[in-house]
Amino acid sequence: PAPGWTVDTDVVVIGSGIAGLVAALHCRPYGRVLLVTKALLDAGSTRWAQGGIAAALAPDDSPSEHLADTLTAGVGLCDEEAVRALVAEGPDAVRRLIALGAAFDREDGGGIALTREGGHHRRRIAHAGGDATGAEISRALLAALKNAEGASPGSDGVRVIEHALVLDLLRDGAGRAAGVTLHVMGEGQPGGVGAVRARAVVLATGGLGQVFSATTNPEVSTGDGVALALRAGAAVTDLEFVQFHPTVLWLGEGARGQQPLISEAVRGEGAHLIDHAGERFMVGRHELAELAPRDVVAKGIMNRMRETGASCMLLDGRHLGARVWERRFPTILAACRHHGVDPVTEPIPVVPAAHYASGGVRTDLYGRTSVPGLYACGEVACTGVHGANRLASNSLLEGLVFAERIGAALRSDLAAPPAGIGTVPADAAAPRAEDPGEGGGLIAPSARGDIQRIMTAHAGVLRGAEGLATAERELRALVPAPGDARPEPGVAAWEATNLHTVATAIVAAARRREETRGSHWREDFPERDDTAWAGHLVVRMDGGGL
Ligand code: SIN
Repeated sequence: PAPGWTVDTDVVVIGSGIAGLVAALHCRPYGRVLLVTKALLDAGSTRWAQGGIAAALAPDDSPSEHLADTLTAGVGLCDEEAVRALVAEGPDAVRRLIALGAAFDREDGGGIALTREGGHHRRRIAHAGGDATGAEISRALLAALKNAEGASPGSDGVRVIEHALVLDLLRDGAGRAAGVTLHVMGEGQPGGVGAVRARAVVLATGGLGQVFSATTNPEVSTGDGVALALRAGAAVTDLEFVQFHPTVLWLGEGARGQQPLISEAVRGEGAHLIDHAGERFMVGRHELAELAPRDVVAKGIMNRMRETGASCMLLDGRHLGARVWERRFPTILAACRHHGVDPVTEPIPVVPAAHYASGGVRTDLYGRTSVPGLYACGEVACTGVHGANRLASNSLLEGLVFAERIGAALRSDLAAPPAGIGTVPADAAAPRAEDPGEGGGLIAPSARGDIQRIMTAHAGVLRGAEGLATAERELRALVPAPGDARPEPGVAAWEATNLHTVATAIVAAARRREETRGSHWREDFPERDDTAWAGHLVVRMDGGGL
């Protein structure tokens, strides 16, 4: 269909978590910035982040120790240069966040309070509101954005469109990113499908946890950015490394959707994982016991559940006492009590759930993807800092540091436009909203639950060749056959299509990697294999197929 409307800008940033907000703020000196977000500005994953943001801020810590812990968690697949940038720039980036207004929790003496989480050998996790770190960061960044928005016309303000689902990338005649198509809902905004023409497109769309039945991710985390990048032919890497958080509150068999997270910081402050007989089953499995990297803890829990036939394990924090629970973990305490569990007097039933995509759209050290003019930061990106398994609380930091780096890149990339920039052809505004992806049809909204069931059953914490082959077959069966009724275009169908594309790509990569590494556990290939598998798998979409 012809676009209902067209908007011109210099930079379009898609997503409003920490990465999108910081990118928007750091790109505005270099041109007009339009920020679009799928729901409300604060609806993404950032505001759910509990534990905190990791940075070598303590006097007894150093970027090189943070580097070492990050590389260990990433099991040989981190890009060391990217990690060096993360840990070296991290402390000052956090200080800039504080200068912007983010209020982190303080020690009695006034210093920033720091805790530990899995895989960290030092206390280096800064937190806010006890266990509401992401909410405070989101609040501070949104306030900064509001100031920028309020800037007078023609100055460096940021324009915002909410309730806007990104559909596809627009390209100019030279193949360079030239904007995006969007579907916008809501009063007072351009409605329906339209086009944003831009000289640079920054993907900051967040995660893909909704590919699985149970996840810590909000409803909006449907992998839209990865799916768009795949359809645009961008390189996407490390998708098999989906991280499962070891401890979400167990809500009973078959619980679906976003689950209440029980932060690693609860274990960082001394809570123990026990089985139903009271045994601390992580002791002896790893030198850090409950604070082992989260893949080790998630697998430890799954194995103990299998060994004992239990549906969940228990997190015992009774010895922390009411005062610590109330002051340090008010969000978690309220969530548990809401569901009838009082952590002050009883252990919390916990299970692992899908949490974070360590892979994503491949970028260089400045957020540039393999498609010129297309940038990515935050969870949607694969900057190389996480390798096969992200270290706890490195994600907010990655979003912050690499979004700032995109600002630095655009300073030069937009100042000296190569041939083609600014000459977006008129037909670049023609959205392919009914049929995202060359040759790829829409998936019915009703398939969303099937995709989640298939992925949880066959591509979860523990996986094997047989299950992954079943997943591939069952996912293929969800594609409408020629002659079947075409799903109605709309947000539900576009999201189901994105989930399907991403699920198919995860399964393809997981099938291919015949080893166990990081958060990717193959039951049929239980060992790490550096001879064959020390590299990355790049997934590309070619003419509609993966
Ligand atoms: C948590 O608070 O346990 C989550 C931290 C993270 O995912 O980095």
